[in-house]
Amino acid sequence: MRRLLLKNSFLKKSLFLALLFFSAVGFAADASLGKAKVEQVCATCHGLDGMGIDDTYPKLAGQYADYMEQSLRQYRSGARKNGIMAGFAATLTDEDIANVSAYYSTLKENRLTDLTIK
Ligand code: HEC
Repeated sequence: MRRLLLKNSFLKKSLFLALLFFSAVGFAADASLGKAKVEQVCATCHGLDGMGIDDTYPKLAGQYADYMEQSLRQYRSGARKNGIMAGFAATLTDEDIANVSAYYSTLKENRLTDLTIK
């Protein structure tokens, strides 16, 4: 009986710590949800492959997720100004931002490496 009680309180503590951890982290970015969103919203300009449909649109393939998250939050808040991206970023939740950034960051095979200006 005593042993069972001890075990129980250990379980309670673990559960408490697990809850604390997940509430601090919030959520884990989900690249497959991100891909679905990109298909609906972003692919017309940046491409599903992250290559951009032409040179007007930044390549996002293999870009660092935290860089894209920061840019998207700044477009949404107006700290980074661009008429086109402001509108699209406004439709994104924090989860969407994490997910689409996770998706584009996985496309490492198309990563931009040639920075020569043509
Ligand atoms: C109608 C075309 C269009 C659509 C749709 C679009 N974007 Fe953009 N995006 C742009 C343009 C143009 C820029 C460059 C803006 C600038 O100079 O700041 C840009 C910039 C960005 C940047 C910053 C890139 C960098 O290198 O700093 C990110 C990240 C980004 N877009 C993500 C997205 C995501 C995610 C979506 C979908 C939710 C999306 N965009 C939808 C046109 C578009």
